[in-house]
Amino acid sequence: MTDAQDQTARIAGLFDALSTSYDAVGVDFFQPIADGLLAQMPPRAGERWLDVGCGRGAVLLRAAEVVGAEGRAVGVDISAGMVEQTRALAAERGLDHVEAVVGDATAPSVSGEFDAVASSLVLFFLPDPAAALRSWLPLMAPGARLGVVTFGPIDPRWQQVDSVFEPYLPPAMRDARTSGAAGPFGSDAGMERLVTDAGYADVRTVTTELPVRFADPERWHAFTWSVGQRQMWLSVPEEERPAVRAEALHRVASYADPDGSVTFTQGVRYTLATSPA
Ligand SMILES: C[S@@+](CC[C@H](N)C(=O)[O-])C[C@H]1O[C@@H](n2cnc3c(N)ncnc32)[C@H](O)[C@@H]1O
Repeated sequence: MTDAQDQTARIAGLFDALSTSYDAVGVDFFQPIADGLLAQMPPRAGERWLDVGCGRGAVLLRAAEVVGAEGRAVGVDISAGMVEQTRALAAERGLDHVEAVVGDATAPSVSGEFDAVASSLVLFFLPDPAAALRSWLPLMAPGARLGVVTFGPIDPRWQQVDSVFEPYLPPAMRDARTSGAAGPFGSDAGMERLVTDAGYADVRTVTTELPVRFADPERWHAFTWSVGQRQMWLSVPEEERPAVRAEALHRVASYADPDGSVTFTQGVRYTLATSPA
C-alpha cells in the first residue's frame, strides 16, 4: 500500500467509526457551513450537482431538494458508513433521486456532466488535493460552478482547548484543520492558488465566522469524538485520556457563559470558481 492509499484507508476507517454520531450530537456545525456554501452558489431546479466527500449530505440533500427529480444530486464519499447515513436521510426526506456512492474524491467514478461541484470540509483530508481538484474538471459542464469549503482562523480560546492534544499528535496532525499556515489551507490566497493552478477560472473567496455553541462542556467532548478531531483522541494513549479529558473540560468550562454554555467562533472559507467556458 502506498502512503496515499494508507492515508485514504485510515480516513475512511475514521469516518466509518463516527458515521452514526457525525452531525448528530446537538451542535450546529456542518449544516450552517453547508448552507453558507449553498448561499454562495444557489442550486436551481433541474441542475446536476456533485457533492464530493458528501458525508451525511449536508450540502447534497439541500441541493437535491432544489434541483428536484428532473435534476441530479450525486454524492461520493470514501466512507461506506457515511454513504449509508446519507442514503437513509435521503429516504427519510423522500428524496428518491439522490445517488450516494462510495468512492474516492480523487477521480470519483461517476458518469455524466455536472452544473455544480461542491466539496465541504474535505480537501484537507486528501493526500493530493490538487490532483482531486483537477480530476473534477472533466466531469463539469463548461462554466459549471465549483465551491469548496475549508477552515479560516479558529477562535484562540478554542485553540487553547485543543492544545491539550499537542504533545500526542504526529507532526502531520498538529494543525489538522489547516495543515499549517504555510500550506494552501492557511490563507485565502493559498486556496485561490491551489484552485487556479488546478485549472479553474474566476477564482474568488468569501469568508464568514460561525458561532459554534456547545450547551455545556460535555457537549464539546461529545462533538470532538463525532468529527475528524476524533483522530486526536485516538492519538492519546488510552490510559492518559481521562486526564487529558479533565484538563480539556476544565479549559472549556473556563470560557462558559452564565448559562453554562460555551460559544467559540470558527472562521469558514468558501473558495468559489468556475470550470473554463
Ligand atoms: C468533515 S467531513 C465533511 C462531510 C460533508 N461534506 C459535510 O459538510 O458534512 C469529511 C468527509 O470527507 C470524506 N472523505 C475523506 N477523504 C475522502 C476521500 N479520499 N474521498 C472521498 N471522501 C473522502 C469523509 O469520509 C467525510 O465524510
